Amino acid sequence: MKQVSIALLGCGTVGKGVIDVLLMNGPIIEEQLNTKITVKRVLVRDINKYEQMNLPSAILFTNNFQDIIDDEEISLVVEVMGSADFAKECIEECFKRGKSVVSANKDLIADYGIPLLKLSKEKQVDFQFEASVAGGIPIVRAMYASLNGNKIDEIIGIMNGTTNYILTQMTCRGITYEEALREAQVKGYAEADPTNDVSGYDAARKIAILGTLGFHSEVTFRDVQVEGIEKITAEDIRNALEMGYVIKLLAIARQDKEGISLNVHPGFIRKTHPLANVADAYNGICVRGNCVGDVMFYGAGAGSLPTASAVVSDIMNVVLHEHIGVTGQRDFVSHEAKLKPQASI
Ligand code: NAP
Ligand code: HSE
Repeated sequence: MKQVSIALLGCGTVGKGVIDVLLMNGPIIEEQLNTKITVKRVLVRDINKYEQMNLPSAILFTNNFQDIIDDEEISLVVEVMGSADFAKECIEECFKRGKSVVSANKDLIADYGIPLLKLSKEKQVDFQFEASVAGGIPIVRAMYASLNGNKIDEIIGIMNGTTNYILTQMTCRGITYEEALREAQVKGYAEADPTNDVSGYDAARKIAILGTLGFHSEVTFRDVQVEGIEKITAEDIRNALEMGYVIKLLAIARQDKEGISLNVHPGFIRKTHPLANVADAYNGICVRGNCVGDVMFYGAGAGSLPTASAVVSDIMNVVLHEHIGVTGQRDFVSHEAKLKPQASI
């Protein structure tokens, strides 16, 4: 059996989930890859916090990234820290030192995904980011690998678990916005700073990533017109229900002859529409392709094990690519984005 040693940058909701999945499903992962994947080192800020957690004693915790980059046994680094700039510096360094990277970080991918992909290709290493959109739902790979024979006309969905949890709980249990947000934080759905969740910018980054992959042209969250859920009141929700609708935070990307438009805003969805039944931290994404027609993806969009499921699948892909001597890189962008005028800010 082969051995692969990996490092995690971060050991919070997602990082701990990755350790759990690798332990829980070790035998089926080893069977498929003929490889044992071991988490050797983990980067965190406050090492003491992690000594009290029940984690495998062989893992070496550090608060110095250099310990990871200098470890030649580590060929794959999993970035699950969050924020963009420090993560970008670490990932660039990994690529330069011949290490492949898996990231769950949509802030990073939405801001620096394309240049990082170019660098990874240049350095002939792998860069995978399935968990950066919609947690456990395999939508990223679907966009670039399963639906890529289509011209994508529309992507519309619920892509933020925190806001969907808040709206669901306000609707079903009648609790306040603040109470529901606190619960979403305790359950590990919200970002460390939930501002981007509730303001719509988390969903904007996700729709920008999917738009880039689906339309083969780079769009960023700055191209998205964004409105969050902060102003939604219990009365709005009651009024919608009385009229036969529910309120959901929708992320929408469309492409037609005139160009691309990208929007995130709360919208009324008729109760009978499949997206109306996407509850709690679940996400639902409908994609319309010119050959496949409408397809819908549904599942856990946030949380420890569901997100780790996507991260571990990326880790396994990188290991497989290493075995067959290729990287998973390709050119995701083939032309400049033509944005509709009203979509630019
Ligand atoms: P989290 O619970 O806040 O954990 C972050 C981890 O990273 C902590 O272990 C923290 O260490 C460490 N960290 C942060 N900044 C660091 C730095 N500068 N240097 C060293 N360590 C640092 O975050 P999370 O929820 O796991 O999210 C991680 C990433 O996954 C984010 O990019 C997020 O957007 C993405 N994601 C999350 C979910 C989800 O459901 N939570 C789903 C999909 C994608 P300390 O504790 O020592 O500070
Ligand atoms: N905070 C994010 C959400 C995590 O609530 O959807 C998953 O990206």
